[in-house]
Amino acid sequence: MGLEDKVIVLTGAGSGIGAASALLMASLGAEVIASDINLKNVELVVEKISKSGGKATAYQADVTSFEDVEVLMNRAVKDHGRIDVVVNNAGIGGKAQNKTAEHTLNDWHNVIAVNQTGVFYCMKVALKQMMVQGYGNIINIASLAGLKPSGNNLSYSASKFAVVGMTKSAALEYGSKNIRINAVCPGYTHSSLLDQLLASRPDMEQRLKQYIPMGRFGEATEVAETVAWLASDNSKYITGQTITIDGGTSLL
Ligand SMILES: NC(=O)c1ccc[n+]([C@@H]2O[C@H](COP(=O)([O-])OP(=O)(O)OC[C@H]3O[C@@H](n4cnc5c(N)ncnc54)[C@H](O)[C@@H]3O)[C@@H](O)[C@H]2O)c1
Repeated sequence: MGLEDKVIVLTGAGSGIGAASALLMASLGAEVIASDINLKNVELVVEKISKSGGKATAYQADVTSFEDVEVLMNRAVKDHGRIDVVVNNAGIGGKAQNKTAEHTLNDWHNVIAVNQTGVFYCMKVALKQMMVQGYGNIINIASLAGLKPSGNNLSYSASKFAVVGMTKSAALEYGSKNIRINAVCPGYTHSSLLDQLLASRPDMEQRLKQYIPMGRFGEATEVAETVAWLASDNSKYITGQTITIDGGTSLL
């Protein structure tokens, strides 16, 4: 599987699944436009890629800002002439784990803004460019929480079900335009997002592992393998799908 010279815009590339995907795709030959709200983190990822001979550039972009998203995509087109693949990975969890009646308005607005509206903004701007090019490929990082109900997590669940819905609806709209759109649905995966959850609820680790037939959390590199495959031409007849990477959690 190769990604030679593919121009790939990646959001949330400074940490976890995004950083692992940036590193892997660059090692497979892609030119990675690595963006994150946290410039320092994404610069470290780009430095690592450059040191190992890969091609990547760091950009600061907040996906909740339509202007930031436009500037990011326009820079990619200005510098590289095209956008072959967009990976919408930036995402956050809610701060508190409460049932719906106690779900805070802050958590609701923040999570929906990043996970749902951010994906919409990136798809809207990228699709305009992909229509001009006559081809394109979008990979949205949803979640197992976008396929199955999960308690104490309403805004996250709502945002990830929305990402799955946006993926399928847009795939239907753009299939005939040579643009494919898929979603990746990780289960519990080691990253700062999961660590944050476990820090607020230390009792959760053993409880969560009970629900994973394979008995362990996933690794960001394992999700990155699927992201890279979807970005490659090896998956070129696949669109509108969700690919679940969860050690079997969805079977229960
Ligand atoms: N880790 C898991 O268990 C898990 C499971 C399912 C889905 N996911 C999804 O995977 C994606 C990556 O999460 P992760 O686990 O690697 O978490 P992470 O916290 O390690 O990485 C998320 C990245 O997104 C960036 N980000 C946050 N808000 C942003 C914004 N407004 N604009 C741009 N960048 C922003 C952060 O700075 C961070 O670098 C998310 O969409 C998450 O919902 C994670």
